[in-house]
Amino acid sequence: MPFLSTTVTWRSPKGRYTHHRSVGQDATIVPCSDMSGTILTVGPGVTQWAAGDRVLSTFLPEHQTGQVSEKHLALGLGLPLDGVLATHRVFPAYSLVRTPDYLTDEEACTLPIAAVTAWMSINGMRPLGQSGGKDEYILLQGTGGVAIAGLQIAKAAGAKVIITSSSDAKLDRAKQLGADATINYRTNPDWELAVTQVTDGHGADIILETGGAQTLRKSFDCIAFGGLIDCIGYVSGKVDATDDRLNVNLLALRRNVTLKGILNGPKDRFEEMLQFYQTHQIHPVVHRSFPFSEAPEAFRFLESGSHFGKVVIRVQ
Ligand SMILES: NC(=O)c1ccc[n+]([C@@H]2O[C@H](COP(=O)([O-])OP(=O)(O)OC[C@H]3O[C@@H](n4cnc5c(N)ncnc54)[C@H](OP(=O)(O)O)[C@@H]3O)[C@@H](O)[C@H]2O)c1
Repeated sequence: MPFLSTTVTWRSPKGRYTHHRSVGQDATIVPCSDMSGTILTVGPGVTQWAAGDRVLSTFLPEHQTGQVSEKHLALGLGLPLDGVLATHRVFPAYSLVRTPDYLTDEEACTLPIAAVTAWMSINGMRPLGQSGGKDEYILLQGTGGVAIAGLQIAKAAGAKVIITSSSDAKLDRAKQLGADATINYRTNPDWELAVTQVTDGHGADIILETGGAQTLRKSFDCIAFGGLIDCIGYVSGKVDATDDRLNVNLLALRRNVTLKGILNGPKDRFEEMLQFYQTHQIHPVVHRSFPFSEAPEAFRFLESGSHFGKVVIRVQ
C-alpha cells in the first residue's frame, strides 16, 4: 500500500510511552501511529478490499470491539510494532477501515488516534450506536489534536464547549469552530474557577483530561456532580506535584465523579465515529502538512507546541 499521509504522534520518538507492561521500546522504530493510504494489492482470500481502495489504519489492529487489553497493546502501530511513516506497509485486512469519500487523505489520516480518542472520551460510556452530548458541558484542555477533534465532535452533537489554551489567537480559532467559552490558562491560572462560573456553578459534565499532572486537580474542582473525567494524556507531566494533592479517592467521591482511563478505541467505535463525521460533514483541522523528506521538521514543529489541531506528513 503506498501511503499518502500520516499524522505525527509522540508515541515512540521521545521514549516517554513507558507505562504499559507489554510495550517495551527498541532503540530504533518506524514512528507514527495513524495513516490514510491506498491499497496497492491484496493477499489471497481477501474479498472486502481491492486495489485502489482508500483506507485508514487502526492504532491497535487486534482491538476490534469491547474492552482493550494487554494483548491488543502488545501489537500497537508505532509502539511496540513499527509504525506507519513508510512508503509501503502490509496490514491485516480486518484492521483497516474505509476512508470517507468526502475527506482528503490529509484530513482523514488525523482520525485514527486523536479523533477516536476524543470520540471515546465523549461517547465511550454510552452504548454503541447511541452517541450523545447534546446540552452537556464539555471541557477541552489546550488546542492540540485530541482537543480540537473533541471540539468538532462536541459541537456537532449539540454540546456546550469550554476550551482552554495558552494562546488568545488559538482561542479565537476555537471560537470560529463553535467553542462557547474560552479560557487562557496562562493569563488565568485559576481556570477551574472560570469553568465553574461560565457553567453557572454546574461544572463540566465531561472533561477531556489531556493535561495530566498540572491539570487533574483543577479538573476535580470544576467537574459537575456525576461528571466524567477522561484521563487521556499528560502534556503537563506524568508526576504529581508534592503539594496540594488531596487523595484521588476523596476527590472522586466528593462529587460522585467517574474517572475513566482512555486508551484510544476499538474498530467498531471508529466506524461509528466515521458515520457521525459523514453525517455532520466534519473536516478535521490540519494545521500544517510536511513532505516526507521533512519528517524530522514535522516532529520539531509538533514539539514547539505552535500547532492548532493536527500536523501531517505527506508520504507521497
Ligand atoms: N489515551 C489515548 O488514547 C491518547 C490518544 C492520543 C493522545 N494522547 C495523549 O493526550 C495528550 C494530548 O495529545 P494531542 O495529540 O492532542 O497533543 P498535542 O496535539 O501535542 O497537543 C498539545 C497541546 O496541549 C496543550 N497544553 C500543553 N501544556 C498544557 C497545560 N499545562 N495545560 C493545558 N494544556 C496544555 C497545548 O495547547 P495550547 O497551545 O493551546 O496551550 C498544546 O498545544 C498527549 O499527552 C498524548 O500523549 C492519549
